[in-house]
Amino acid sequence: MQAHRIKNLFSAIARYYDFLNSLLSLRRDRSWRRETVKVSEVAPTSKVLDVCTGTGELALAYADKISAQGFVIASDFCFEMLVIGDRKVERKHRSIDTSFLAADTLILPFLDNTFDVVSVGFGIRNVSDLEMGIREMTRVAAPGGRIVILEFTQPANPLFRGLYYFYFTKILPFIGNRISGSEDDAYGYLPRSVMKFPNCDALKGIMEQCGLVDVQFYRKTFGIVAIHVGKKRETAELAVGDRL
Ligand SMILES: C[S@@+](CC[C@H](N)C(=O)[O-])C[C@H]1O[C@@H](n2cnc3c(N)ncnc32)[C@H](O)[C@@H]1O
Repeated sequence: MQAHRIKNLFSAIARYYDFLNSLLSLRRDRSWRRETVKVSEVAPTSKVLDVCTGTGELALAYADKISAQGFVIASDFCFEMLVIGDRKVERKHRSIDTSFLAADTLILPFLDNTFDVVSVGFGIRNVSDLEMGIREMTRVAAPGGRIVILEFTQPANPLFRGLYYFYFTKILPFIGNRISGSEDDAYGYLPRSVMKFPNCDALKGIMEQCGLVDVQFYRKTFGIVAIHVGKKRETAELAVGDRL
């Protein structure tokens, strides 16, 4: 989908986004984000960038693990989603630095080699050019830093997949569109975009093509979601022909 349509789609459902995430995932979304932080090997002093942050749930899960020596920047191009995230930070009076910033993941306003962790939760699927998005995340990661992708994927077990797809393609869009009042079929777009998204092995391959090494993935909740983690090479390890 084109970027301006994605932006409109999320701005229209922003108010309901967190509530529906929790409801439609039966509250699994929080544990998926906690697991994502865990496999990121984040340190209290880490500098974290969470792109396509939406209302900032993943960014705030990182913030819980970071001390005053570290910081979290949460970026997204949808203003309405960012405003909700920013209010959450104000309400919680967090002592560590968590900043929300309007930015397109395809052109991040940061210098090369800046962050220890660059993450994205349920967002990279919506970026109009997947490979370019991963390359841009990699560019701003420090050498040895980690790129972390939490995303929906297709469950492998055929029996479970049948039941899950019934829920995912019929029940979830009905409830989601009804409650959010989405006129763009936002919750029908969700399963359609997941079906088109590369499977776990293919995404691993794309991350490797983008120059990442030691790429691992972890399936969660019967393979409904997966967390991919890859490392940016140390500078000396840069291979000839890498375009980072
Ligand atoms: C499904 S939401 C994910 C929100 C959040 N990361 C989470 O874990 O719930 C996808 C977000 O990606 C954002 N997005 C999509 N394409 C983007 C791009 N090119 N640049 C910045 N944000 C983008 C949308 O605005 C939306 O807020």
